[in-house]
Amino acid sequence: MINTGITAVEGYVPEKVVTNDDLSRIVDTSDEWITSRTGIKRRHLSTGENTSQFCINIGKKLLEKTGTAAEDIDIIIVATITPDYATPSVSCQVQTALGCVNAFAFDISAACSGFVYSLGIADKFIKSGQYKKALVFGAETLSKITDWTDRNTCVLFGDGGGGALLEPVEKGGIIAEDLHARGDDVSLTGRHHVVENMVCKNVEKGHPYLIMDGRAIFNFATRVVPQSVNDILEKTGLTLEDIKYIVPHQANSRIIDIVARRLKTDIDKFYINVEEYGNTSAASIPIALSEMSAKGLLEKGDRIIITGFGAGLTWGSMLIEW
Ligand code: ACO
Repeated sequence: MINTGITAVEGYVPEKVVTNDDLSRIVDTSDEWITSRTGIKRRHLSTGENTSQFCINIGKKLLEKTGTAAEDIDIIIVATITPDYATPSVSCQVQTALGCVNAFAFDISAACSGFVYSLGIADKFIKSGQYKKALVFGAETLSKITDWTDRNTCVLFGDGGGGALLEPVEKGGIIAEDLHARGDDVSLTGRHHVVENMVCKNVEKGHPYLIMDGRAIFNFATRVVPQSVNDILEKTGLTLEDIKYIVPHQANSRIIDIVARRLKTDIDKFYINVEEYGNTSAASIPIALSEMSAKGLLEKGDRIIITGFGAGLTWGSMLIEW
């Protein structure tokens, strides 16, 4: 059987940093409230770059650092809920900008689980033996769909992206996955487009922003993440002792604390950077992996579990041997 490895990771966040104090000047909030409820101190916001630009920057770095020729890329997948256009996809924009003329390209909409879903999809293409190299991105410009007058949501989100090069490897790589969805739970929705045309004058109005029942999402995440991590361990016959790091979607440090308690494991096993970026949805896991790689935290043979949860509702985990 072919093993799919992650052979390089990269991240990119916009330069502009917005602090909790900055937000307290536009909505009724405070650094104390945001920090104590979420662990978030800062977020990076786009001053004009769109989701495709994040991916293009990341893709260039991935090709350069691995010495990969653009025309050798077979697949491009971008996980995002904030594409530049409804069409073309962000992945097609990336294909053109990078010159990956032989790649097929599509986007995945699975919110904060999008990167895990996309790795799972790319893994199957590579395992088929027909394709050798995939670029997989998670990238968001959430600031485009955030209501900057709503303190319940605007303090939570940030912009940025991360990506990975996937190739066949001799040993390890993606070992197991656990992917789920519950479409009947609409605790988090964003940018609703209603049908309105020459034969339909819709009385229902759409809305352009994320709307969230924060408490419901909190309860959902703290329930499904430990379950998913345990399921993936059971599937592989491994225990948490065999895992060096759990890299969770970075939504809220309190969610991660509860997950650690429910898994009866030390919080130090979790990589956490929510303080710096806020919740970047599909981008949060690849940004974390990129940071970890740059810090030398991921060595050959290390086993990690990545785990995402978000709108859809969707959730999923993946066990990877580096
Ligand atoms: N500043 C000050 N007060 C606030 C703020 C704010 N920014 N936001 C809400 N409040 C107020 C509320 O209005 C409420 O006031 P009230 O009691 O007078 O009505 C009070 O704080 C308490 O609100 P709760 O909702 O009970 O606060 P909670 O402790 O649940 O924390 C939070 C809220 C941080 C949103 C939490 O529920 C959470 O993190 N949920 C998960 C969110 C998440 O991860 N969403 C993204 C999923 S990922 C994706 O797919 C994009």
